[in-house]
Formats: sequence, C-alpha cells, structure tokens
Amino acid sequence: MAHTEISAAARAAIDEAIEATPYAQYVYGYPHKTAYRPLAPPRELSRMWAHEFESGALRRGSLFLYVHVPFCEMRCGFCNLFTTVRPEESFEQAYLDALARQSRVVRDALGPVSFARVAVGGGTPTWLSPAQLDALFSMIVDGMGADVKAIPCSVETSPETATPDRLAVLERYGVDRVSIGVQSFFDEESKSMGRPQKRASVERALDAIRARSFATLNIDLIYGAPEQTAASWIENIALALRYKPEELYLYPLYVRPLTGLAKGARDWDDHRLELYRAGRDYLRAQGYRQASMRMFRREDAASASAPAYECQRDGMVGLGCGARSYTSSLHYSEEWAVGARSVREILHAYNARDEREFALARYGVELDAHEQHRRGAILSLLSDEGLADAGPRFDALPELALLIERGLARREGARLVLTDAGLERADSIGPALFSERVRAKMQAFALR
Ligand SMILES: C[S@@+](CC[C@H](N)C(=O)[O-])C[C@H]1O[C@@H](n2cnc3c(N)ncnc32)[C@H](O)[C@@H]1O
Ligand code: SF4
Repeated sequence: MAHTEISAAARAAIDEAIEATPYAQYVYGYPHKTAYRPLAPPRELSRMWAHEFESGALRRGSLFLYVHVPFCEMRCGFCNLFTTVRPEESFEQAYLDALARQSRVVRDALGPVSFARVAVGGGTPTWLSPAQLDALFSMIVDGMGADVKAIPCSVETSPETATPDRLAVLERYGVDRVSIGVQSFFDEESKSMGRPQKRASVERALDAIRARSFATLNIDLIYGAPEQTAASWIENIALALRYKPEELYLYPLYVRPLTGLAKGARDWDDHRLELYRAGRDYLRAQGYRQASMRMFRREDAASASAPAYECQRDGMVGLGCGARSYTSSLHYSEEWAVGARSVREILHAYNARDEREFALARYGVELDAHEQHRRGAILSLLSDEGLADAGPRFDALPELALLIERGLARREGARLVLTDAGLERADSIGPALFSERVRAKMQAFALR
C-alpha cells in the first residue's frame, strides 16, 4: 500500500479531532452543503451534463434521481433538514408546479439517460395528498422516464402521514422501500426530543405499511434523549423489531444550531456511546448486520436487485428545493437554510423560477481531481463497501495509515474497512478527513 507520509502536526490534528468527540458530524455526503457558494458565472446544465457523459466521467445509464418534498406537519426540535411546516395549499401547488417546470428543463438538459434508482425524501413526502403524490409520481415516471416498477425506489414517511390512501399510491407506482421516522415508541421520550407524537399513531402507521407489499421497511430511531436509559432504548428497538423491518437506522441525537433543542445542549457523548453499543450488540444478536455506524440490515432480507450505487461513477440528479445534484466535478443545489423564515424565502424564490433559470446551476461547489478522490475515499470508508486498498483514492489520503495504526480501520482482503472502534467514531473520522479547503469554507458559512 503506497502512501505519502503525513506530518507530525497533521497526525496530531487528526488524533485530536477523533478523540475530541465521537459526535462531530453525520457525514452522508462530501463536501458538506455548508461548503456550497454562489457559482459565478452560473453553469448551463445541458453543457455540463453533456461534458460529464462524453468525457466518460459519468455513465448515462445509471443515474440516481432524488426528489425533495420540503413539507412537514411539525418542526421537530432536533431536525435541521430543509423543510417548512404546514404550508398553505396554494404554496404546495406553486411548489409542485415549479417542480414540474424544473423536471422538464432537467430532462431536456440530460439528453438520453436512464435512472437506476429513485428516492423521494424531505421533509415528509407523504405530507402531500394522495392526488398530489399521484401527480408527483407521474412526473417521475412519465416526465423523467424513471421506470419505478423496475428499479429500487424509496420514499420517506412519518407516523401521521403514512395513511392507507397515500401508501396505496406508492404501492401502485411500484415503490419498494418505505422509510418511516419513528424516533421513539415512548411518548415522553419523543416529547423530550421536541417531537410531539403518540405511540398509537406510530403503530397504526407501521401496521398500514406492513399491510402492503413493500419489499423493504426501514425504521429510523434516535438514541440519546436526556431521560433515555439503556433499558428503554433496547425496548424501543425490540418494539421496532415486532414489525420485522428489513432495515433500521439508529441515529445518535444531534442538537444543531437553529433547531429547537439547541439552547439546552450539553455534553452527553458517553451517554450516546453507551446506548450505541447496547443497540448495536442487541441488533447483531437479533440477526441484523451492521452496514455503517447508523444502518443495520436484516441478514435474511433479500437485497435490492439493482447494482450498487457507485458514488464515483453514477451521477445524482436532484429535483426540488433542498435537493442536491452531483456530477463528478460539480455539486449543486438551491441555497440552504434552517430558520423558518429563511427556508420560506428560499422556497418562494424556487417557486418563482422560470424555465430559463432552471436551466442553470447557480449555487454549489467544484471538486478538483484531489477532492473527487477524497470524496470517494471518505464515503466508501464510512460505508460497508470499504475502501479499495490501493490506487489514487488511498494515495490522496495519507491520513488513512493513521487510522490503521490507531486500530480504527483494518485491511479486509483488498479493502480497508472500519473496525468496531472505528465504526462508533465514524462521525469524527469522517470530518477529520475533510480537506483544509472544504473545512475553511464550512467554517465561514453563515447559517440562517
Ligand atoms: C426526513 S426524516 C424521516 C421522515 C419524516 N420526516 C419523519 O421524521 O418521520 C430523516 C431522519 O433523520 C433523522 N434525524 C434528523 N435530524 C436528526 C438529529 N438532529 N439527530 C438525530 N437524528 C436526526 C431522524 O431519525 C429522521 O427520521
Ligand atoms: S424529523 Fe421529519 S417530521 Fe420532523 S422536522 Fe425533520 S423532516 Fe420534518
């Protein structure tokens, strides 16, 4: 394994970052959206995507389509996703109209392509009415040409909105994965996280999902609420397992700037680590395999039939305000905010965009060859895919050798994978591998 030496100062900085807290940041993409800035000049989508395909950087036949629905019935105390609460019907309609305009422009800009998977997220996509969901899926299938019945398609939902009439629409279009945010089965715990929710509605929703033919049910749970104990956490997981979910995401509670809980933040790393270990061990004993720090998959569940998404070669086409799009050299989106007023402003601007404006990328971050290798290394190391133990991706990150020295990563055949000690520190290992340039941009970002 050839790699460049790292300086003593860099070693110390990485050690310090990893030891400071196991909970620095959830890394599910790189660069983080706080590293995005206005693009001057804006880029023409059609030229940019044509160049990606013609140069061979991306494949035309395996794009990922992501559609963002930024609406929720409530704003949970912990959540900093791009969403707005209980919009008026006219606002929803204006959003869906803008989405339809954007989809036509983007479809033209992409030229002859096909999609290998689809995800509809939010927010809470099932905030939309059955008729609106029908229109949304018709746009995805007929407008964008995504063959939802033949490829994996995942939709996020919530306990209050996973109603039989909405689930019927998803089933009819061939959605094969439904992911529901439960967070906790105990009303008091949900309330302490700033999510007023009743267990009866959670159970009603889970029964309604299981009454349908979706191949994969994913349940999101959160650990680390102030009053939670290891016993109540394991009971939560046991209650989720009654529904035999094919997947479970166990999220450590994060308290983020500008979210409702931020004011009461305190240091509870040890609490979360203890709950993490208890949950992991319990799920492994129950026949689940750990795929990343958060994700567990039932060993006996059939895996999705589509080829695995390769973030290096497969572009992501994002539609909707809050969605990100990834080409190999440019990541772009609309602007991002968390505060209620700023989110509405950004949504208003999106709803007013005409075709000409949708044909341009105006906000994002460029990735040179070094950042592209770094991104591939970070994302594959943090997932069960692991990092190919050779080649440019490894060379781009001499820091990886330190992870092996510290027992946080190990070689497994031709790959580098996180050890158990590394997996539980994935949220600090990821950020420690960010480049200086990206880190500086993130720090300079003014959250609104
Ligand atoms: C789009 S939501 C899921 C669907 C739906 N909106 C709901 O909440 O029921 C994404 C998931 O991210 C997780 N999440 C969001 N913010 C979090 C935070 N600050 N700490 C821990 N988990 C968080 C929650 O588990 C949530 O279910
Ligand atoms: S956790 Fe889900 S329901 Fe709550 S604000 Fe975030 S996206 Fe909306």
